[in-house]
Amino acid sequence: MVIFGATGDLTRRKLIPGLFSLFGKGLLPQRFAVVGSSRTEWSSEDFRAEMREAVQIFAPEDMDEAVWSEFAGHLYYLPGNATEQADYEELRDFLAELEGGPANRLYYLATAPRFFAPIVTRLGEAGMAQEAAQEAAQEAAQEMDGTAAWRRVVIEKPFGHDLASAQTLNQLVHTVFAEHQIYRIDHYLAKETVQNILVFRFANTMFEPIWNRNYIDHVQITVAEAVDVGHRAGYYDQSGVLRDMFQNHLIQILAFVGMEPPASFQADAIRDEKAKVLKAIRPLSPAEITAQTVRAQYDGYCTADGVAADSQTATYAALQLYIDNWRWRGVPFYLRSGKALATKTSEVIVQFKEPPHMMFTIPHDQPIPANYLALCLQPHEGFHQRIELKEPGREVKLRSVDMDFHYEEVFHPNSVPEAYETLLHNALEGDATLFTRSDGIEAAWQVIDSVLQGWQTAAAPPLATYAPGSWGPAEADRLLGKNGRSWRHGCVDE
Ligand code: BG6
Repeated sequence: MVIFGATGDLTRRKLIPGLFSLFGKGLLPQRFAVVGSSRTEWSSEDFRAEMREAVQIFAPEDMDEAVWSEFAGHLYYLPGNATEQADYEELRDFLAELEGGPANRLYYLATAPRFFAPIVTRLGEAGMAQEAAQEAAQEAAQEMDGTAAWRRVVIEKPFGHDLASAQTLNQLVHTVFAEHQIYRIDHYLAKETVQNILVFRFANTMFEPIWNRNYIDHVQITVAEAVDVGHRAGYYDQSGVLRDMFQNHLIQILAFVGMEPPASFQADAIRDEKAKVLKAIRPLSPAEITAQTVRAQYDGYCTADGVAADSQTATYAALQLYIDNWRWRGVPFYLRSGKALATKTSEVIVQFKEPPHMMFTIPHDQPIPANYLALCLQPHEGFHQRIELKEPGREVKLRSVDMDFHYEEVFHPNSVPEAYETLLHNALEGDATLFTRSDGIEAAWQVIDSVLQGWQTAAAPPLATYAPGSWGPAEADRLLGKNGRSWRHGCVDE
């Protein structure tokens, strides 16, 4: 495995801790090497020392000196410039010597996005992307327990900064790698609870019959973060919340909630259905941009290091989207996400319709209660089902209660694996189910592009502000309020 961007944050925080955890569980192949590549002039020894420190900081519970020294023996480093062809030739020779024969290779692009295209192009030019020819593959298969010598590339997010650039990047990557070799990352797909949406919907018969416009009033998807932009302000000010969170994470969650049942759990069966539902999201017209979108910035954002003093970048957004198909026609999907909010929570609320006729007396200042389901994606992984029951006593008085399930109560407390560990393992195993295919990425950009472009026109709603530590701007409450709805916090105490 070659990690481009080996001195960066992602390598320290996620990739090396993830690989080390897999190693500790015996989930890496017996013979493997991780080669770090970056411009910094480190030796392999420096790399090992830096990565040891990273594991100690970011996964201290996993640190075991004996296991580490064994793992460290598999780490190498070769300085290289991502845009310098000669450095790839050196890398190619370095790898060939390490491998000593046919070997599988995973290239991990953990660099700034502007390097994705140059790295892929150079890998192609250096002949490093080709999978082994038939004969060599057979030889490799014998040596490597039945696997042929494959070449795969993992590409981090953001994949493009709008639809046009994502299409251009897809075209370029396809000139070097075939689609089956490409693994586009969205780490939300590897969160245990996000995958559980599929199991919840398709392994239980009780939800699917009511999972449609006949019974569901609307859906809310919230990905709230308590942290502000911190040291990533320079990057963030260029991207904003729509590119950073909506184009990928929120849209992917929406796809899992809204997709039709796939015929199998094969990667392409799932990705076909996801792409179909994403293509059915109605792009927003100018009038809808004004009425159905909210953009806001937290107070004090412009004083962060790396942010322009007059920055108009949204750190919060709320969107009201519609999926124009038989199942969802007319059901609003409300999506919201922001930095510097009251707490960290990712959740989906599926709000069911009110009972068609209420035979019980409800105090007239109270709304008719309706069931909802809260899928708690993080940090309190689980779900809550809100139902009505009769309070004990002579009167018939309704009371709302939750039936709930929490991972930590049912399974071992640390049973939910880190998303990156799952993704690394799946990429090594060749399971692309949790990675985004080119059509899925482009369909997601299509939706977000319509909002990004709308926000550049006179139809854009004014940039609202909100206090750090709040639940966002009042405008987001009005977005739901005008239809008699309100945001729910189904997984955190209100
Ligand atoms: C990343 C975004 O993709 O996801 C970050 O770039 C964000 O801005 C992060 O903080 C959130 O991920 P998680 O797993 O902490 O919810």
